[in-house]
Amino acid sequence: MEDIAEKQAQFTHMENGTAEDWKAIADAFGPFARDLPARILAHLKLLEGDCGGFPVDRLTHCLQTATLAHRDGKDEEYVVCALLHDIGDTLGSFNHADVAAVILEPFVSEENHWMIKHHAIFQGYYFFHHLGMDRNLREQYRDHPYYERTIEFVSKYDAPAFDEKGETLPLEFFEPMVRRVFAKPRKSLYKKAVEAAG
Ligand SMILES: [Fe+2]
Ligand SMILES: [Fe+2]
Repeated sequence: MEDIAEKQAQFTHMENGTAEDWKAIADAFGPFARDLPARILAHLKLLEGDCGGFPVDRLTHCLQTATLAHRDGKDEEYVVCALLHDIGDTLGSFNHADVAAVILEPFVSEENHWMIKHHAIFQGYYFFHHLGMDRNLREQYRDHPYYERTIEFVSKYDAPAFDEKGETLPLEFFEPMVRRVFAKPRKSLYKKAVEAAG
């Protein structure tokens, strides 16, 4: 991790913050933001060893989903979305797809964001009926422009990625992709300020 700037703001209430205070905060933000890919990778590692009853642990599942997408020729941004699609399992136990989508949103296309945000409902086709739920819940999106894209994601990459013997590229393989995709936000409330800071 890079050193955080030593200077700190002096206010106790934001109301009294000065331009100098905010310069200190803005200066610290650069290195902090540059460290985001490292935090993402560290958080992905938290999924290791946790199977939650599934045939493979959550990290293996994410790696295998990304591996299948990569081997099938999907582009880097898509592969990173595949890698991160279940990163929310740790803290978003009741809304994991939303957590992944929110992390990815500033950095990816609208269609990739939508696909990841809705993958849990689309994935439900394979098991909701075993839990007394409606497996066709995803049909509410039948006419949505990203419906087919999300069907493809769950059917070709997410749902088949529970194979202990299946190819699973290591996290290190995807690391440069994560660093590139998370290098710069496409959209953010703070985009202007971030760009001005360089
Ligand atoms: Fe998921
Ligand atoms: Fe998954």
